[in-house]
Amino acid sequence: MEQDLILAGRVLSFVASPFATDRPEDAVELHEAIGLRGGKIIALGDRLALQKALPDASLIDHGTQLILPGFVDAHVHYPQTAIIASWGKRLIDWLNTYTFPEEARFGDPAYAAEIATRYLDLTTACGTTTVASYCTIHPASVEALFTAAQARGQRVVAGKTCMDRNAPESLRDTAQSAYDDSAALIGRWHGVDRLTYAITPRFSPTSTPEQLEALGALWAAHPDCLMQTHLSEQLDEIDWVAQLFPQARDYLDTYEGFGLLRDGAVFGHAIHLQQREKDRLLETGASLVHCPTSNTFIGSGLFDMAGLMADGHRIGLATDTGGGSSFSMLRTMAAAYEVAQLRGAALHPAQLLWLATQGSARALHLEDKVGNLTVGMEADLLVLDLASTAAIAQRSRQAQDLWEAVFPTLMMGDDRAIREVRIAGRKVV
Ligand code: GUN
Ligand code: ZN
Repeated sequence: MEQDLILAGRVLSFVASPFATDRPEDAVELHEAIGLRGGKIIALGDRLALQKALPDASLIDHGTQLILPGFVDAHVHYPQTAIIASWGKRLIDWLNTYTFPEEARFGDPAYAAEIATRYLDLTTACGTTTVASYCTIHPASVEALFTAAQARGQRVVAGKTCMDRNAPESLRDTAQSAYDDSAALIGRWHGVDRLTYAITPRFSPTSTPEQLEALGALWAAHPDCLMQTHLSEQLDEIDWVAQLFPQARDYLDTYEGFGLLRDGAVFGHAIHLQQREKDRLLETGASLVHCPTSNTFIGSGLFDMAGLMADGHRIGLATDTGGGSSFSMLRTMAAAYEVAQLRGAALHPAQLLWLATQGSARALHLEDKVGNLTVGMEADLLVLDLASTAAIAQRSRQAQDLWEAVFPTLMMGDDRAIREVRIAGRKVV
């Protein structure tokens, strides 16, 4: 058994959702110290009280630095790591030009393993401790990510991307093989250590009705898996869906009609929604994931955070690497702030931090395990330096309160602000 550990600093713990109150700062409690044992959080409170309660613990003093839950990135494509920041295309052209040729390389297990390792290294350095990733159509791409995550003791959600039309021949499966390969991966990985399987039809344009039906049946057979896909990202895409599924009432109906809409469904983007779609998403408790750097980078549109939150939707935040233009959830919070501003609503820094931790964990139904620093939760956390660059330091020095001190790092910070990362209590950065 590893030795008990006390980390002292400014430990941030959510006691409520900062979207559920007029004073978002009231949703946060600060503690002087946090106690860790066996990969879990066992105590929070005054430093002296923790030292007394855990006399055998060693203590690491982080001064006035902020101790936060590790970031949870609720929608990523790890196979797109090497094509992040590719120029000049919108969604469908971007997929065909950059994404599909790169994803075709993941039939090679050695390449998949190399990128899985590179991706987890890059994101851990940014303070991200949990991701929900699409893989490629190749089972080897799932094996590679789960194997790398398992070796690091990391909580990861992933699934084999399923596509049986409108993709190059080498990237197409079938309704049957998508079912069989996904089922085999569920049997091998779902619930093993900290790993969760997400059944993953890429989006309805690349799946036939037969494939969507097969994956709906698979989800019914494995109801505690998640289901992740894309919804209403770009207007061209929505027109295309309407042509491909003439019977469907709207984009969401192409999933709903095949058993792919209920709680545990995680829809990326969800920008251009009809009222019926919003109503059904809310009624069913499905999750939405906001991917702001992707939405501006690919030119998709402005997610309605204020409106959807006010209605009570379950919403997470994500990079959408490599449609998104950054691996960093700090950069992603900045983009979420900017997108909200363009829609006339300013997100409070407590709301941004909540989205990147508890919000995303809730979207993935992991909120009782990660995304907050409370007793009993898994000890995935990071230490945030609020003066990591000269530009940030000169601004945060002027701050009158915690939130004014934090906000410059949310807007301008990068991996240099991430001073330490722990996964299940073990220091990894
Ligand atoms: N829609 C379908 N596939 C993708 C993808 O890989 N990235 C993004 N941003 N949107 C998608
Ligand atoms: Zn995506």
